[in-house]
Amino acid sequence: MGSGSALEPRSPQAAAIFGLFAKSLVLCGVIFVLVVVLIAYCVVRFRQRPGQEASRNEGDKRLEIAWTLVPLGVLIWLLVATAHAMTVADPPADRPPDLTVVAHQWWWEARYPSGAVAANEIHLPTGRPLLVRIESADVVHDFWVPSLGRKIDAIPGRPVNVWLQADRPGIYLGTCAEYCGAEHAWMRIRVVAQEPDDFAAWTAHEALAAAMPSGGAAARGAQMFGAKTCIGCHAIRGRDDTRVGPDLTHLAERATLGTGVIENNPDELARWLKNPQGIKPGCHMPNLQLADGEVTDLVAYLETLR
Ligand code: CUA
Repeated sequence: MGSGSALEPRSPQAAAIFGLFAKSLVLCGVIFVLVVVLIAYCVVRFRQRPGQEASRNEGDKRLEIAWTLVPLGVLIWLLVATAHAMTVADPPADRPPDLTVVAHQWWWEARYPSGAVAANEIHLPTGRPLLVRIESADVVHDFWVPSLGRKIDAIPGRPVNVWLQADRPGIYLGTCAEYCGAEHAWMRIRVVAQEPDDFAAWTAHEALAAAMPSGGAAARGAQMFGAKTCIGCHAIRGRDDTRVGPDLTHLAERATLGTGVIENNPDELARWLKNPQGIKPGCHMPNLQLADGEVTDLVAYLETLR
C-alpha cells in the first residue's frame, strides 16, 4: 500500500495545499469558538427579564466599523494565503510536458517522451517537479493523487497541465475524483516514485518493444492473442500499436489489473481473462468465452511481457 491522503503531503505542491487547508481550518475554528462564546454571553447577559424591556444597542459607530474591518482583514488574509498556495502548487507550465496522462473509461494511460507507455501506474523520478499533461479520451474524469499535488479535471479536447512531485521514493495512490460512469470507483492510479537512476532504467526498459515467444504455451498464447481479437484493442509494441485498451507491452510488471480491482498474478490474470465483466462490470473488455486451455496459453504469453 502507499500514501493516498491529502493530509499526508509528500511534495512541496501538496504541502502548500495542506498548509492552506490547515490555516483556514484554524482560522475558522477560532471564529467558530468566538461566535459561540459571544452568542452564549449575549443570551445570558442581555436576556429580557420579567417587567423589563429588552436592552438594545443601536448606532454604535465604533462597533460597526470594527465588525466591517475585522472580517475584511480576515478575507484579505485568506486571499493572500490562497494566492500564495496557488503559486506554489500550480505554477504556469514553462516547458513541454514530462509525460502525458490520458484518462479513459475506466483506466489511465501514461505516455513518456522516451516512447514508454504504461497503464494505471505512473512512474516518477523523486526530487523534482514533473509537468504532467492531462487529457481525456472519452468523458470528463478527474485526476487526483492527493499526497503529491492538486486535483484537476480531464476534459476531452481540452488538455491541461498539472505538476506532480514526490520528495521520497514510494507508492502514492490516487483516484478518479469525478463521476464518469459505471466503473468510476475503479480508476485507481498508482504513482511509483523512484530514485532518478531507477526511474531512468525503468523508462528505458519500458520503451522497449516486446519479443515474440519462440515456443510452447507462450507461443500458442501469442498466436491466440492475434486470433481472438485481443490485438484489436490492446497494443503490444513490436506487434501492434492499437490504443483502445491498456498497452500490454510490459503488463507482467504491473502491480494490479483492471485499474486496481485485483492483484496482477497468473491466477488473477486467468480469472480476469475468463470473465472481466464478473470482476469489473461495465468495463469495455467483453467476456470472450475462452476455454480453460486457451486461458492457460494466453496467461503464459502475457507473463512473458516484462
Ligand atoms: Cu474516471 Cu471517475
